Amino acid sequence: KQATVVLAPFSGGQGKSGVEDGPKYLMRQGLKEGIETEGWEVEISEPLEGCDYEKRKLSEAEVIGKARNPTIVGEATEKIYKAVHEAAAKETMVVTLGGDHSIAIGTVSGVMEQYPDVGVIWVDAHADINTVDCTESGNLHGCPVSFLLNMKRDCWPSPFNWVPGKLRPEKIAYIGLRDVDTEEKAILRNLGITAFSMYHVDRYGINKVIEMALEAVNPGGKGPVMVSYDVDAIDPMYVPATGTPVRGGLTLREGLFIVERIAETGNLVALDIVECNPDLAAHELHVVDTVQTGCSIARCALGETLL
Ligand code: ARG
Ligand code: MN
Ligand code: MN
Ligand code: MN
Repeated sequence: KQATVVLAPFSGGQGKSGVEDGPKYLMRQGLKEGIETEGWEVEISEPLEGCDYEKRKLSEAEVIGKARNPTIVGEATEKIYKAVHEAAAKETMVVTLGGDHSIAIGTVSGVMEQYPDVGVIWVDAHADINTVDCTESGNLHGCPVSFLLNMKRDCWPSPFNWVPGKLRPEKIAYIGLRDVDTEEKAILRNLGITAFSMYHVDRYGINKVIEMALEAVNPGGKGPVMVSYDVDAIDPMYVPATGTPVRGGLTLREGLFIVERIAETGNLVALDIVECNPDLAAHELHVVDTVQTGCSIARCALGETLL
């Protein structure tokens, strides 16, 4: 069993500093060792080594149309795309540590080069499906899914020209939504995207929701699955140190059960863990809660069981 941990210390998809330190904190907390305990041989990949995007974000403060910092987002995600593709091509399990959620433009595209039919489970409080045309905040971490789906390509700033945009709406399903912008709701409806909000988690229970999400993106359960996990899907009482916390989220157990159950199917090929921002903690305990939750997600997704 081989895994590649791709470090993606990138914050250009949103305005706050600190989320670029996510990988460092997760690694320091023992993420690699935790995976190794589950019997994986782990390699580290650092596609952004030597690039100071944090500095460029602050000095360039670029805006094209509505999009903020499109050049660094396009450049960084292309590097991540290549690293993830390389790791997936070796048929290793690819675990990418963000960074903000814009990095999923690279991770999902990279995984799709190896597994064109991969089903994507997007665990998040947010839909991240704004187009560069309709985003209100201009933050590209709220837009990755629209790039993956090739939406409004005519409006894309040129640094995104590399994005294949081959994901089909029936190959993505959401779990955990509770803060979706008005335009995003229309997009989800128009494209018929499978989306389970916190209402559905309460209505059906997390077990049933996962079964429905998996069946939607991977009918029959025979194909590969990737999870893009925004830690803000889990309630801020467990994950306080994140850029856009929304109350009323998944319990810690619901959040871990999602990846435990997907691990059990044997279909998982890649996992992102994004939006841990240690700088946003009110005190040290918040850092520990958030970073430990990130590490738990990784271990559960790679096969740790309670018994
Ligand atoms: N919908 C809001 C926006 O587009 C919030 C997005 C939050 N995304 C995230 N990856 N945390 O700005
Ligand atoms: Mn920093
Ligand atoms: Mn989110
Ligand atoms: Mn997100």
